[in-house]
Amino acid sequence: MREIPPLFLLFSMLAQAQPAALRQLAGERTIKIGAAVNPALLQQADYAETLAREFNQVEPENSLKFGPVHPQQTTYHFDPVDALVAFAKDHQMAVRGHTLVWHKQNPGWVTRGTFTPEQLAAILQEHIQTVVGRYAGRIYAWDVVNEAFDDDGSLRKTIWSGFIEQAFRWAHEADPKALLFYNDYDAEVVNSKSDAIFRMAQDFKARGVPLNGIGLQMHVTLDPGSLENMEANIKRIAELGFEVQITELDVRVPLDSGAATSEQLEKQAQVYHDIVAVCVKYPKCTAIQTWGFTDKYSWIPGAHRGTGAALEFNAAYQPKPAYRAIADALKTR
Ligand code: G3I
Repeated sequence: MREIPPLFLLFSMLAQAQPAALRQLAGERTIKIGAAVNPALLQQADYAETLAREFNQVEPENSLKFGPVHPQQTTYHFDPVDALVAFAKDHQMAVRGHTLVWHKQNPGWVTRGTFTPEQLAAILQEHIQTVVGRYAGRIYAWDVVNEAFDDDGSLRKTIWSGFIEQAFRWAHEADPKALLFYNDYDAEVVNSKSDAIFRMAQDFKARGVPLNGIGLQMHVTLDPGSLENMEANIKRIAELGFEVQITELDVRVPLDSGAATSEQLEKQAQVYHDIVAVCVKYPKCTAIQTWGFTDKYSWIPGAHRGTGAALEFNAAYQPKPAYRAIADALKTR
């Protein structure tokens, strides 16, 4: 039998090799690559397989918000989160928690209650300590407070606005090892809102309030604004000593003719690439997470009518140009 030259064997092995999954590329540079998840969908094989193959972090999209997880004053609904945490353990994935203090998705018993500020404080403390305490050691990072600032940088007036600092202290007491984040949208570039967040981080650092990082949601369009400005914002947060995580990335596309054109998908890929490439330049930028991962399940078409196709896999779980762009950016040194 003729001997096969070893170089030929090597080349044919390389040609057959699957391209590395995102989580492998991310793991090589110790950054987390995550996706927001609806735990009910873990029953679907294509959803679960893609998630486990590609990501090393998950976050429940809705199941840990106050209303879903604590629907009645004395009732908690932990089953969906428990299922996701178990899935994550089985597949060696990290879990982020979202979110403890937000003005949306609060239960009726809170919003329609007639509580004094002291009673509201006690309710929030009990909520935070129960939820964070239950998942201590299993949820490594929390969006403790979500969207507390208005676009002009003023504090949004909500039932919880008096308890922001306390929320961080209560979460820290419940799990001293968890990383605690403030998370917001439209605060990726330097602007009035991100200035207000930065000032809060400076103040918390000076006074020892337990804050570890800032979550930048990044729900963007094909025109995501100045990358230099985004980088300047990430840089100043990192230089102040805080982590940055991109927590809810998606890039929505106008769907005038029903489906995204290949030109739009290429443009979208460039946006994904540029954002991931900025993050990986900074060791303090420790996670990149998309808000879902398949266009089959995304909040975008319901909330931003006439747009969609915002994620890195299409509705048939096929990788889009955006997927390749994320992979390429994860490889940049
Ligand atoms: O689960 C109920 C279901 O029982 C009910 O029949 C149905 C009828 O409306 O509603 C279902 O709840 C919906 C829930 O998503 C789960 O699908 C809510 O109506 C709907 O409002 C909710 O939307 C979520 C939204 O937050 C709420 O503001 C989106 O899925 C979720 O993607 C979105 O996520 C937020 C982040 O938490 C914070 N940053 C912005 C981001 C996008 O808005």
